[in-house]
Amino acid sequence: MIPIIVNYNHSSMQPIIQISSSPVELASSLAEELSQSIRTAAEKNKTFTLALSGGNTPALLFSILAEYYGTSIPWKNVHLFWGDERCVPSYHNDSNYGMTKIHLLDKVAIPAINIHRIHGEDDPIKETERYAHEILEYTDKINNIPSFDYILLGLGTDGHTASIFPGYMDLFQTQKICELTLHPQTRQKRITLTGPVINNSRQVAFLVTGKSKASVVADIINKTENAGTYPASCVALNHGKLKWYLDSDASALL
Ligand code: 6PG
Repeated sequence: MIPIIVNYNHSSMQPIIQISSSPVELASSLAEELSQSIRTAAEKNKTFTLALSGGNTPALLFSILAEYYGTSIPWKNVHLFWGDERCVPSYHNDSNYGMTKIHLLDKVAIPAINIHRIHGEDDPIKETERYAHEILEYTDKINNIPSFDYILLGLGTDGHTASIFPGYMDLFQTQKICELTLHPQTRQKRITLTGPVINNSRQVAFLVTGKSKASVVADIINKTENAGTYPASCVALNHGKLKWYLDSDASALL
């Protein structure tokens, strides 16, 4: 199935929705668009600040980037960050950095200095501060707020994104760049970008697959009364482009 672009509202402030028939087709399409964005920045001699999502969904995207874009993307121009991290060591099964290392970092020639991981093994409070300073050092600023070129986000079945869980909606009003949160079920400590930083980026892509996400996706995209309980519904860019990449299962209730 050729990916279809469905823009539910022709105003520029509304998200673009792309639906692909399978996770592979979806990840391939996102990989191509991401590579084009990176190359465009490189042609202007600009670095590209990219914050990655964690969890399981992006592993396929990372593998496709490594296999098909390993040499065509100018990785020396890319500065990699994470939208969130679990407060565990990098070798831990839960580590978002660890997952990215396996599927992408070990397979492409990105300079080690360009990899800005969250030190999940360190004291969470001190690491939140340290990571915020690293973000300030490497990102552009718009209205004095860090502005990433591109942020990849996932979506939880409870409507969380990054590690902004329901109950942390105030992280869309904070002055902080990143913050410490607790996973509501596991109580695992997490470090996450905050809402104002996410909303200040130039591009945000939600990559969402699977039937389990379909009702939350539909609530958010259709702005139902449930949407307000989902942190992901607060992702509304100040001046950038928001795009939802959905497979047929995740878009089934749209
Ligand atoms: C994390 C993520 C989180 C993730 C969603 C979806 O650290 O877990 O950043 O926001 O994107 O929970 O996770 P799955 O891709 O595993 O469904």
